[in-house]
Amino acid sequence: MPLEPSNSEELVLGFLAEAGDEFVSGEAISDKLGLTRAAVWKHVESLRAQGYQIDAVPARGYRLSAIPDRLTPLELRPLLNTHDIGQVLHHFEVISSTNDHARELAEEGAGHGEVVIAESQTGGRGRRGRPWVSPPGLNAYFSVVLRPELPPARAPELTLLASVAICDALRQANVPAAIKWPNDVLAGERKIAGILTELASEPERVHWAVVGIGVNVNAAATDFPPELRELATSVLIERGAPAPRALFVAACLTALEDWLDRHAEEGFEPVRLAWRERSATLGRDVIVKTEGRDIQGRAEDVDETGALLVRTEQRLERILSGDVVHLRTRNP
Ligand code: BTN
Repeated sequence: MPLEPSNSEELVLGFLAEAGDEFVSGEAISDKLGLTRAAVWKHVESLRAQGYQIDAVPARGYRLSAIPDRLTPLELRPLLNTHDIGQVLHHFEVISSTNDHARELAEEGAGHGEVVIAESQTGGRGRRGRPWVSPPGLNAYFSVVLRPELPPARAPELTLLASVAICDALRQANVPAAIKWPNDVLAGERKIAGILTELASEPERVHWAVVGIGVNVNAAATDFPPELRELATSVLIERGAPAPRALFVAACLTALEDWLDRHAEEGFEPVRLAWRERSATLGRDVIVKTEGRDIQGRAEDVDETGALLVRTEQRLERILSGDVVHLRTRNP
């Protein structure tokens, strides 16, 4: 079930967090928040059950001594100052796929910006039906419901936009991230984040889009199956230190909203320019595996629709979808 903490539980936690290393008496909390002492105790017990370490000392009161690395609304909400994205959060301990649930919610009328987030997924999905490895408590798996005012033909813009936002959040976390067309986020040549966009459209406009984002945050090499160890990386592996996941997810949601706002106001061009600046693909020799055939050449640009332009020996190919393999290191 979605975890929506009671407002007073959030207030008790906020009060304890603000006091830092200091003890606060149960009386002070109950006076300040207008709760009975029994209610304060009940919230303290509930917070402890969720992994918050709260010391209780007679005659001194309560002190928050450790917070869990979790992606609950209790942890995320105070870190978010977005207007839409993540204002409604559905948190799950385990779910089959956050994208599947977000799609169901979208069909039932979920609003723009609602987020489904999970500590682990049993059926995490990637592009082309590939599985997305989703071990518990280590990484970020979330899906955002969007209701953009766009015709279906412009939906690919959202995918490129999301990769720019995640690349920015990773760079803020000191990971030198770059984007492989269309939307794989790499650190070096290894994948650190993937994005799966799904949508329902009417003839004239997108009805809803679900942007599903998986970022390897605190996974160690041994948390990946052996066949992925050479191909995947994480924030932990790149920085040599774990990242607080809630802070990282808040940075992703904020970056996503900033780019969505810019896209709504100025259209795709600033997103395209930002994507080009962050690209690991442009200027490289590539093979693009498309539905019908493999196309080999030099990746020259992305056009005003987000399509990849590849110069082959014969012609300039315009590619709308496919899997890119980077061949040699980038030429100047
Ligand atoms: C890819 O690179 O192939 C896309 C991977 C997308 C994975 C994320 S994890 C959260 C969301 N739920 C899913 O089932 N998939 C996306």
